[in-house]
Amino acid sequence: MAKHPIGVFDSGYGGLTILKEIVKKLPGYDYLYMGDNARAPYGPRSFDTVYQYTQECVRWFFSQGCELVILACNTASAKALRTIQQNDLPQIDPSKRVLGVIRPTTEVIGRFSKTGHVGILGTTGTVQSESYPIEIAKFFPGVKVYQEACPMWVPLIENNEHNKPGADYFVKKHLDNITSQSKDIDVLLLGCTHYPLLANKIRSFLPATVNIVSQGEIVAESLAAYLENHPDLANRCSKNGERAFFTTDSTSDFDAHGSIFFGEAVRSQHLDLLAG
Ligand code: SIN
Repeated sequence: MAKHPIGVFDSGYGGLTILKEIVKKLPGYDYLYMGDNARAPYGPRSFDTVYQYTQECVRWFFSQGCELVILACNTASAKALRTIQQNDLPQIDPSKRVLGVIRPTTEVIGRFSKTGHVGILGTTGTVQSESYPIEIAKFFPGVKVYQEACPMWVPLIENNEHNKPGADYFVKKHLDNITSQSKDIDVLLLGCTHYPLLANKIRSFLPATVNIVSQGEIVAESLAAYLENHPDLANRCSKNGERAFFTTDSTSDFDAHGSIFFGEAVRSQHLDLLAG
C-alpha cells in the first residue's frame, strides 16, 4: 500500500457508499477504508463511546500514513468530529485533517428544496445531536428542518434484510412519522451512509414530488473542492489509484456485504484494534 492514502472511516459498511462516489470523482488517489464492524452500530451509543471509538480509529489511520481522514459516518461526524478537530488534532499533528459528512451536506441541502421544508432521516445518535438543524440554520436560515430517527434501518441493512417484505413495516413507519410533521417536505435526506441501500424501498412509499437525497456525490464533490483549495495537503496524499479495506470483524462477512455497498468486489484485511 502506498504511504499516504486518504482514510475513509465508518462504523461498518455504510461508508463504502461514500467511498464509491469519491473513487468515481477522484480515481487517482490511494484510499484506505476501515469499518469498525466489531463495534457497530454506533447509532445508539453515547457521545463518549462514539468519540472514544472514533478517536481510536482516527489514530490508526494516522499510524498508516494518512494525512486526511474522512469520517464517512454521520453518527461519528455528529458526535466525535468537532472534539477530534479541536482537541486531538492540535496535539497529534496539526497538519493532518479529519473531515465529516454533515458539513458538506448542510452547505447544499437547501438548494434541493422548493418548499423550504427538509426532512432528515438518521440514526438516533445523529438526530439527538441536533447537528443537522444547527448546521442547516447557518447556511439556509429560512429552511425548516424535520428529523426522524430510524433505529431499525441499520440493523436491517447490516443483516441483508432491507429488500425483504419484512422491512416494509419499519420503512413505512418512519416515513409516515416524518411526513406527518409537515405535508410540505419535498426533500428527504438519507442522513446515514447505510440508507442508500434502502433508497428503492423508501422511493416506493413516497410521491414522486419528494426528492430523496443521498450524500455520496455531495461528499465527493466537496472533497474534490477541498483538495483543490488545499494543494499542500493534496500533494501530500499519494496517487497510485490503490485501495485497501480493513474491518475490525470477520473479513469474509465484510467482503460479502461490502461488495453490495461498494458496487464491486472488495477484499478486506482484519484489524484487531482491541489488541492495541
Ligand atoms: C451506525 O453505526 O449506527 C450507523 C452510523 C451512521 O452512518 O450514522
